[in-house]
Formats: sequence, structure tokens, C-alpha cells
Amino acid sequence: MLDQFKTKLVGARTRVEVGDAAKAAVDAVVVSAYEGAKKGQVTFEKSKAQVVLKHLATTKDFKGGPRDALLLRTLGRLAAPRLLVLGLGKPSEVTPERLRDFGARAALKFKGKGVRRVAVDVPSNHNVSIDLAVEVLTEGALLSLFGIEDFKNKKADAGKSPSEFTFYVADRAALVPARKGMARGREIARYTNAARLLSGLPSNEKPPAKLAEYLTEVARSAGLKVTVFDEKELARRGMNGILAVGKGSVAPPRMIVAEWHGGAKDQPPIALVGKGITFDTGGISLKPTFGAYPMWHMKWDMTGSAAVICAAACAAAFKVPINIVAIGCLAENMPSGSAYKPSDVVRALNGVTIEVVNSDAEGRVVLADGLSHAQSFKPQAIVDVATLTGAIGVAVGPRTIGVFSNSDDLVDRLSGASKRTQDSLWRMPLFDWYDELIESPIADWKNTGGSPAGANTAAKFLEKFVGRFPWAHLDIAATAWTDRGRGEIKHPWQPKGTTASGTRLLVETLRNWKRPPRITKAGTDAPSADDDGDD
Ligand code: BES
Ligand code: MN
Ligand code: ZN
Repeated sequence: MLDQFKTKLVGARTRVEVGDAAKAAVDAVVVSAYEGAKKGQVTFEKSKAQVVLKHLATTKDFKGGPRDALLLRTLGRLAAPRLLVLGLGKPSEVTPERLRDFGARAALKFKGKGVRRVAVDVPSNHNVSIDLAVEVLTEGALLSLFGIEDFKNKKADAGKSPSEFTFYVADRAALVPARKGMARGREIARYTNAARLLSGLPSNEKPPAKLAEYLTEVARSAGLKVTVFDEKELARRGMNGILAVGKGSVAPPRMIVAEWHGGAKDQPPIALVGKGITFDTGGISLKPTFGAYPMWHMKWDMTGSAAVICAAACAAAFKVPINIVAIGCLAENMPSGSAYKPSDVVRALNGVTIEVVNSDAEGRVVLADGLSHAQSFKPQAIVDVATLTGAIGVAVGPRTIGVFSNSDDLVDRLSGASKRTQDSLWRMPLFDWYDELIESPIADWKNTGGSPAGANTAAKFLEKFVGRFPWAHLDIAATAWTDRGRGEIKHPWQPKGTTASGTRLLVETLRNWKRPPRITKAGTDAPSADDDGDD
């Protein structure tokens, strides 16, 4: 069903071969170059390409730095008409991140240029293992070529971008690990691009019921067990938060629950919960015309749900030996005669009552039910992902994911993973006294604490629905879209548009998961109402 869209999740074939890429009869060969030990010196891998490169070692305009690139015509000296030389810096500085960028730089050079078959000489002489090297090269190349052209009659890139990458390794022993790495890189790209596509689809293409079908398809294709709750089932279960947010729309809300059983039967799962607002007008508290973003952006307010389902699916494709349950809270936030209103009080699934003081703070209201439902699985940890607040971008700027948590352990894991996925993650406090800002005179809590520490009070509200489980909340509102403008995410493997922020980060966290994280109550070390001495 998703393939009704012409956007290919993984548009190019990938292969691994033993030998010298420079001997391949393809449209372009890509080789790497290093900065030499002496200033201005460039060194190359031993390859047939040396014929062309010999003179380059002394030229001034190519230094082999990690941003340097040189595209050469081979004029009959190689079987391929083009040779792309990409710098990698010093061999000792080569990391998996730099190789992921390398894969993307190789692909991007030929995007839309009619260069179809590309042979890549897998860089050697560095400390990255061969399987990881080929994984990130593949991932980088396939992520970089993503774009949504479905709704254009004239497709700019059609038939003009690379359709096949062959990665050449030096010896036979490398073949099996390299192919394993390549397969993993493809899966990461496939599921990240699925989340990018769904987040980028126009809202009219993905009302909650439809989005639930797409996500079901993605999850089932990876072997997950999927259940979707319709509006009747949501009502029967007492999921009044998601029902309240959805009731202004003619398109009724849904909750999707996808389960992966890769671990022992009695092993508690890791629960992932995603915000899935298929369009956020703000509802009765209608968004202004000139807000932080033009309103059309709110089609990607469901990125969190795409991220958690696609990440769980990717982890399943990797056959991770753990149990996972991924929950998406899908609703459309509209103003209408049937919409929920400021002043309404709703009782969430866990019994906690919410005074709605702003219908635009809807994400936390749907997550209240999603997080409550996650508790019923007695999970070893809960991680939620949400485009929750504009305030997170005000606090940390446009390239950083804010993480809020009651577990140092869980933050350490996410933060370690973020370095490997090239995400920027920063921990934010969950001070006890934030409670004062969301106290309601009529219900347990109100759904916003106003502008001070807006992202933090939103997280504090979510905490009321996680019980006594280790939990982390990722606010991806600032990172789920990039125009590659000032301060935004600018990796070569990340095109303009939706980023599926959180997807790769979760995959990386899940594939390294070892044991249940410990709960610690952090971020409480600020003066509270009780010890300020005046009451
Ligand atoms: N979906 C928005 C947050 C958002 C803003 C995501 C910009 C991506 C880009 C969220 O539902 C929202 O409207 N939050 C309000 C909260 C406020 C009413 C307390 C906000 O950030 O203004
Ligand atoms: Mn909103
Ligand atoms: Zn929203």
C-alpha cells in the first residue's frame, strides 16, 4: 500500500565485491584520499586509479581533507569515464560518522546527474571494522538520495540518480562481514526513509485511520504483531485524552500498538510511545498565521509515532533479542463544533484528570493515554518521542533533541547512541517545583504551564502518566524538519525536509540494549516550594 507512493524508500541496489573499484566498467568510480603526514601531502589507497591520481599528490587545490572532493574525467585511462576522489582527513581521524558522510558525499555528487552505476572503493587504512564501515557507507548513500516527488507530474530526479552502488573490498575475508554490514545499512535507510516519507506526506493523505494502515504495513513487513484501536475501542478502554483531541475532526483517532518478541517470553518489553498528530491546527486555540512555523508544517506533527513504529520495525529486521512494544497515538487536532475546548476536563486512561487550558497543547493529552497504556506491559523502560513544544527550539536551538528523564542510566544509553547516529542530544531538568506551574484548581493537572520552561513543564506533565518506570521523553519539535538553514541539521545524508528525528537514535539504542536501566530521580536539586522558608 505504501508503494502507491512513487518515492522509493531505498532507490538504489547495493552490492559488495572483492577487487579494485577502479577496474569496474561503471559510470563512476569513487576512491578515498588521506591527508599525508607532511603538510600538503595527499595519500591514496593502492589501486588502478593511481594512474589518474599520480599527479594529484602534489597539487595545491586538493588536500584530502574530510570536505575535499575532486571529480575527474578519466579520458580512457580507466574503464569508467568519471573518477571521484573524496578526502577523509587523517587515517587516525576516520570514524564511522565520517564514513557515513563519505557514503552520502559519494551519492550526492551524482544525484540527478544521469550517473547510474557507481563503484566505491571501501576506504581502508583506518580503525573502523569492515562490517561497520560498509554499513554506514550504505546507510549514508541511501539516506542521502531520499526525496518525495510523488505529487509532481514532472519528476526532476526520475531515472537520473544512482541506481546501483558496488562496494569493493580488498580481500575475500572481508566479503561476508561487508555484506552483513551492507544489509544492516539498507534496513536503517529503509525504515528511516519510511518515517521520513510518512512525516512528509500531506495531511490529506494520512488521516489517523490511514496512517494506522501505513504504519501497520511497515510493522508487519518486519514481523511485528499489530493491533489498532478504533474510536469505539478507545472509548471502551477509557482513552479519553486521545478521544478528546480527535473529536473536532471528521477523521476519527486511532491508537496503534506494534509488538516485537525477540527476547524471552517473560522478559519485560521496552515500550516506545509516539505522538501522532496528523495535523495540528491548534484546535479552538487556533494557531496564529505567523507563528514559529507556517501552519502547513503541522503535517509532520506525527513524526514521533512514525519514529517509534519504524524504529521498532528496524530493530525487528535486525532480530534484536529483546521485546519491544511501540505505541502510536494518532489524532487530528481541528477546531469545529465538536472540538474539545479550553476549560474541558478529561480523565486519561490511568485515571488522572486533565484541565485543558489550551487545545494547542494536544500532544501531551494524547500521550497521556499512550504512556498509561505502555504501563500495562510492565515495561523495563518507556521512551516517548514527540514534536511536543516550540519551546524546546527556543531553549536549545534547531539542531538538538531535548531529553527529559528519571533515569541517568537511560539518558547515558540514549546519549551514547546519539553520538554514533550523529544526533545532538541534551538533557533538560525535570524540577519538582515545575508541578506548581501545572497545578489546576479544578483537576489534577492542567495541560500547560504557560511560557516559562515550556518544554520542561510539558515533560513534567508527561511524568504524571509513566508510573514508576524508567522513562525518557525526547522532544524532537526542533529537529524533525530541516531547511538546512541557520543552525539546522546539515549532514550530507540529510536532505531538506523531514528528518524522522529519533528513528535512527532509537534503533541504535535498541540494538545495544543489555539490561533494564535503573531509575534515579534526577534534576530535583533546585529550591522547591517546601524549602523556600516562606510558607
Ligand atoms: N506541535 C506543536 C509543537 C511544535 C511547534 C512542533 C513547532 C513542531 C514545530 C505542539 O502541539 C504545540 O502546539 N505546542 C504549543 C504548546 C503551548 C500551547 C503550551 C507550543 O509549542 O506553542
Ligand atoms: Mn499543538
Ligand atoms: Zn502538536
